[in-house]
Amino acid sequence: MYLGIDLGTSSVKVIVMDKKGAIVDSASEKYPLSYPKPLWSEQNPEDWWQATVDAVKKIVAKNPSVGEQIEGISFSGQMHGLVILDENGEVLRPSILWNDGRTQKQCDYLNDVIGRDKLSEYTGNIALSGFTGPKVMWVKENEPEVFEKIAHILLPKDYIRYRLTGDYKIDVADAAGTLFFDVKNKTWSKEMIGILSIKEEWLPEVYDCYEVTGIINKGIANELGISDSAKVIGGGGDQAVGAVGTGTVASGVVSVALGTSGVVFASVDEYKVDKENRLHSFNHASGKFTQMGVMLSAAYSLQWWVEEVNKDLQAENPYQVLRDEAAKVPAGSDGLLFLPYLTGERTPHADVNATGAFIGLKPSHTRGHMTRAVMEGVGYGLRDSLEILKDMQLPIHEIRITGGGVRNELWVEILASIFNKELNIVEASEGPAYGASILAAVGCGLFDSVEEACRELVKVSQTIKASVEDAKVYEKYYPIFQKGYGQLKEIYKDLATL
Ligand code: XUL
Repeated sequence: MYLGIDLGTSSVKVIVMDKKGAIVDSASEKYPLSYPKPLWSEQNPEDWWQATVDAVKKIVAKNPSVGEQIEGISFSGQMHGLVILDENGEVLRPSILWNDGRTQKQCDYLNDVIGRDKLSEYTGNIALSGFTGPKVMWVKENEPEVFEKIAHILLPKDYIRYRLTGDYKIDVADAAGTLFFDVKNKTWSKEMIGILSIKEEWLPEVYDCYEVTGIINKGIANELGISDSAKVIGGGGDQAVGAVGTGTVASGVVSVALGTSGVVFASVDEYKVDKENRLHSFNHASGKFTQMGVMLSAAYSLQWWVEEVNKDLQAENPYQVLRDEAAKVPAGSDGLLFLPYLTGERTPHADVNATGAFIGLKPSHTRGHMTRAVMEGVGYGLRDSLEILKDMQLPIHEIRITGGGVRNELWVEILASIFNKELNIVEASEGPAYGASILAAVGCGLFDSVEEACRELVKVSQTIKASVEDAKVYEKYYPIFQKGYGQLKEIYKDLATL
């Protein structure tokens, strides 16, 4: 049996998978997120640990024979969060998370003074406020007394590994999101750690995502009620491990995650970087590479529209009511466009100041038009990342779609038509936690490679086709959507100064 731990932003999810890939049980525990100042987003690593312990104990209590059979444990984790520890392994300050936006000044310095070309050469990426490196600079500049005490830097899920084993270790896929990792050569970047004043001895030892990094500590194993010979396997950042869970591990397979944020994730055999760094260039959990585009408000855009703007709607299922209205509106929403930049945008604009917009409103437009335009706007935004993949001459043979938004069939049909590609939905719905248990199984030798494990375990359950008619309409609207951001950029800047 294999334990997959997915350390998310709002909760941890733990699953147990058997040798045939079936999920034996799962448990989840929430923890708080704090926003102490505008743009800040922090969490307490101790809360992650307690929640993980509680979730594992819940599973073991329900299935007493399972604990002893756990052979391997692996992880998926929210990426980029900075966890800093002192020489005694004590947490120095709350973790600064991936969705924290305090580091614009540090990003501007890195991108403009050090230079995008240099950053791209050293790491395969440029500075974005979510990444870990600018956060280290922020601590140095704003909390020098804390910076002085740093003895270890970890990412969120590696803090859990540390508590399980006492080891300071990390995997390539999560290390790739720090901006101080040399993605191409799978090693810490000497140049970047110099620029960021990081000492090499602070950094954890790097492994591939499917490699054994250590053995669980005996005392902890007893406390959790699991085997004290359980191996701990690399694991990785949530996008790479989620891609394992959907079998996105062969060149030409792309997954689109329609979650709170939207992610376009391509598995790539050879290291490659876009000339303008529009996509993130990271290591994949399979040992290969990935090109990844992140849209900040995907399913969140519809959530905002339904739960905030239409919160007074008197209906048992407001999503259903609004979706039915949207289904009656033709593709293209009769000339109404929505720019889905409610919380700024990463790919392709990398602009924290970008905001949402309806463009083309007329008196004939109804609420149904606006709902459909929101869904279409998210589709156009995701297509932006697919277009960059094409521009980079990377193949797109198959697209797999995942995430909470997949339950909305109309939305998946709209996306299929906007991409003009059929979309495959896979059987396993456990996402990154499933990917983590697959990595544990590979690490324990059940499979020879991540690719082989995915071939055996991950099956496509449904295919949604593009509508030929709608695809023609979207082909006309998409170039107009693409102009939207450029036309509004100056206005976004002005609004940000108010
Ligand atoms: C990836 C990213 C998110 C976070 C949180 O770059 O920022 O996927 O890992 O889920």
